[in-house]
Amino acid sequence: MCGIVGVVGAENATEVLLSGLKKLEYRGYDSAGIYVNSKTGTPELIKRVGRIKNLEAAIPAGLAGTQGIGHTRWATNGVPSVANAHPHISNDGRFYLVHNGVLTNAKQLAADYLADVTLLSDTDTEVAVQLIAKFVRDGASVKEALRHVMQLVEGSYAFALADRDDVDTLYVAKNKSPLLIAKGDGFNAIASDALALLDRTHDFIELHDEELVVLTKDSIHIENLAGAVQERASYTVDVSEGDGDLGAYPFYMLKEIDEQPAVIRRLLSSYVDDQGQVQMPADLLKTLDGADRLYFVAAGTSYHASLAAAPMFEQLAGVPVSVHFASEFGYHMPLLSKKPMFIFLTQSGETADIRQVLVKVKTMHLPTLTITNVPTSTLAREADYALSLHAGPEIAVASTKAYTAQVATSALLAKALGMFKGTAAAKKLDIKHELSIVATAQQTLVDQKDMIHELVGKMLKTTRNAFYIGRGGDYYVALEAALKLKEISYIQAEGFAAGELKHGTIALIEEGTPVIALISDPVTAAHTRANAGETQARGANVLHIATADLAQPDDELVVPSVNGLLTPLALIVPGQLLAYYASLDRGYDVDRPRNLAKSVTVE
Ligand code: F6R
Repeated sequence: MCGIVGVVGAENATEVLLSGLKKLEYRGYDSAGIYVNSKTGTPELIKRVGRIKNLEAAIPAGLAGTQGIGHTRWATNGVPSVANAHPHISNDGRFYLVHNGVLTNAKQLAADYLADVTLLSDTDTEVAVQLIAKFVRDGASVKEALRHVMQLVEGSYAFALADRDDVDTLYVAKNKSPLLIAKGDGFNAIASDALALLDRTHDFIELHDEELVVLTKDSIHIENLAGAVQERASYTVDVSEGDGDLGAYPFYMLKEIDEQPAVIRRLLSSYVDDQGQVQMPADLLKTLDGADRLYFVAAGTSYHASLAAAPMFEQLAGVPVSVHFASEFGYHMPLLSKKPMFIFLTQSGETADIRQVLVKVKTMHLPTLTITNVPTSTLAREADYALSLHAGPEIAVASTKAYTAQVATSALLAKALGMFKGTAAAKKLDIKHELSIVATAQQTLVDQKDMIHELVGKMLKTTRNAFYIGRGGDYYVALEAALKLKEISYIQAEGFAAGELKHGTIALIEEGTPVIALISDPVTAAHTRANAGETQARGANVLHIATADLAQPDDELVVPSVNGLLTPLALIVPGQLLAYYASLDRGYDVDRPRNLAKSVTVE
């Protein structure tokens, strides 16, 4: 979702902006733009709809500049168009603004303050830049004008503001939307994600909500909304730039699917000691032990990972768990238990739906843990505890290795909590051994790509819809596999509790409808097979994916058997590959599906 890059003091701002925006492409966008200026040049504003390559092609040769801001826009207010793309410019031509977030009272502010200004776009951002220009015309300094806008607006923002008449300065402000300051040698910069600037610096400064920053090439001045100066040390982001490289792969998604066994091994080396004991922070375990119920609150794939995690905590640690959509929970909070603890699984650590829940439960003084792939993210910083997923940067919009890391990290934490509580189930489980078996199973599955690709040819190449069915943990995998399929192949796919089909949904089954049955649970395997049979009798094209211990001779795909609690980690791999090849065979951009964003920073 919208990406921001800005720089002041660079020798070639255009280059910094373009390379940074390309690194942020993974977030999802539909238009892009840059503004570049220097003491000797003329200010240039270039915006294009579509990919960054369209923008790049429109940039005049030799445009360098020392000051610049750039943006990739994921439309919220107004269609994707050049007029709605950022940067937005004030009518007097002096101020240029890029923005990530949503200003919910923009229309009201325009009516209250800008009656005499003709707005040229449908965006809330333009309202903000026109307001800044107006307040400066009325006598405010640029900083005070920006502060005034921060006081007036409601909603979320990461702002980067350039003043045509002052090429030595950038103004920055943040509330709820992510933004980092990057300290360079002879320049300073900003970005929505450190990844955008890792080829130039590893030195970053985090910003808190409602902070304003004045940035020059060699100074970083941070203030809060009240004007009090904030001193903040920088931190080092030690992800190597190379971790985000595509290498010989055609798409990041395939690379990330292939990386999953390595992710599990990395998690084992990060969290398990030489004696095979899971090492988690003692105070975290103590707090978890004090909870009478764990509330997992998440979105999308991370919600599905939370569903897979829940039985681990129930069975290994004997603690009840409930799993909720973040977008629902904050506004329709159920009656909480007496001693709840909140766990947020989140790949990006920036999901706005989750953050509003975190903010709410913090005001209730309830303990929180974020498990994320981005240790420096907002949700990691703001929760009481944070654990890292160690999955390396995930670039494809469709999450794969982060799901694996979330489920595996949950297993490690559940085991550690069970040991802390001294449960028999936890003592019996050799988690290192079991996760090693999972890594091997995943390797076996990713090595069967060609066979899985052939299944796509038989089942998914032209269909408009498809069903994944399963029971228990298989149902949770069905939800995730169906989400993967719909987000990148645009097949209308549903994950369904197999037993529920006959209560209505079976009406949708017709000749050739693909039904993919997931079978890994000995208790319900026969029932799921029977449910698949019921669809077959009505013309469905059924694919059985079963674990080796439950497989039958005609099953189309057999998955190596692993520990029952960890089955989602093996079973999901064919689902990811089926989605990948369905998208590829239909000629879509696998990594950048339409309408989607990687980091969902608006509610
Ligand atoms: C789908 C996907 C999304 C995210 C969801 C939450 O492949 O990645 O469904 O899981 O938007 O994002 P995070 O995990 O960053 O909180």
